[in-house]
Amino acid sequence: MPLIAILPGDGIGPEVMAHATRVLEHYRDARKLPLELWQLDLGAERFLRDGTTFPKDVQARIANEASAVLLGALGDPRVPNLEYARDILFGLRFGLDLYANVRPIRALADRLVPLKDRTAKDIDLVVFRENTEGIYVGIGGQFKRGTPDEVAINEDVNTRKGVERIIRAGFEYAKRHGKKTVHMADKSNAMKHAHELWYRCFFEVAKEYPGIDAKHVYVDALCLYMVQDPRPFEVVVTNNLFGDIVTDLGAALQGGLGMAASANVHYADPKRVAMFEPVHGSAPPLVGKDLANPIAGFLTVGMMLAHLGWPEEEERIERICAEAVTTGNCTPDVGGTKGTKAVADWFLERLAAS
Ligand code: NAD
Ligand code: IPM
Ligand code: MN
Repeated sequence: MPLIAILPGDGIGPEVMAHATRVLEHYRDARKLPLELWQLDLGAERFLRDGTTFPKDVQARIANEASAVLLGALGDPRVPNLEYARDILFGLRFGLDLYANVRPIRALADRLVPLKDRTAKDIDLVVFRENTEGIYVGIGGQFKRGTPDEVAINEDVNTRKGVERIIRAGFEYAKRHGKKTVHMADKSNAMKHAHELWYRCFFEVAKEYPGIDAKHVYVDALCLYMVQDPRPFEVVVTNNLFGDIVTDLGAALQGGLGMAASANVHYADPKRVAMFEPVHGSAPPLVGKDLANPIAGFLTVGMMLAHLGWPEEEERIERICAEAVTTGNCTPDVGGTKGTKAVADWFLERLAAS
């Protein structure tokens, strides 16, 4: 029976994950999906209580027994250096070698699209963000800290294996989903070592996919084009840092961070444990106000159920989320007047009736 580790985390994380858990309980109890739910008490509260970040025995059980991890968000202003959050988040992404951070950018209703003359059908792409290397690896250091001569270095690590496998994942996805184009976004004009590798590798891998149009785009221009006209983009492959930035821009095209879901997977071996999280963070200003949009969390559960072998449930969840937005059963960030709990109650009722 698939074991799902649920890590609500910090800030609005526990608020939205409480309702995401209700959705999973519905699937377990009413629809009899074989799911075992395992709630984890990790995050800022736990760290402040006893110094725990990501215990080895929990890491081992996730790696050896779990099928998926559902993560809310991490980040708490009471712990400014966020060391514990990186331990957990990167412990999962790097530790489980989840090299593909798959972030769909799809608008579920016309009203959510902020671009002039564009509607929901124009916003439909997926970003394949490299998730195990780049500037996120934490290699570097500080020298003469606090003096006028201080130096701070973060190394950007790009391996042939790492670059090639995320590019291949983008093409494989395109092939399986009938997409005609894959874009690769880099800064090979400025980063002559690292991104020359990306550029060369992209066109080499592209030769294995003759039916798919391989297009290079500089990441700065990509940001421009995504706002001017996102229609040409179907699959975008990029590195860790650029993927982080481009997907927040993408979230804006979907109606905001309350609508953006993501999966962290080992794309070549989908049987491995994967991790699912909304793209948003812990949103400290919203905490305790019943304002957090739970839809990103629901869509994330949908991605997880599809990954576990129930793609029709992802479609069902997405349909009800779209209906929530079009009928005004949604939070203020997407134009509604309801609170988190009322939206979740409505969603669960519709789910039960569907
Ligand atoms: P954020 O995503 O928390 O918030 C950015 C903006 O989006 C804010 O205006 C916020 O109100 C809004 N927003 C986010 N989620 C929302 C939701 N569900 N409903 C309605 N509005 C929502 O990003 P931030 O403010 O830059 O970061 C806050 C903290 O979260 C930081 O500690 C950051 O490091 C962390 N963070 C964690 C993750 C993660 O754990 N995966 C992701 C992003 C940021
Ligand atoms: C995200 C977040 C994280 C990232 C932060 C919290 C380290 O912004 O998942 O988008 O940069 O990957
Ligand atoms: Mn981000």
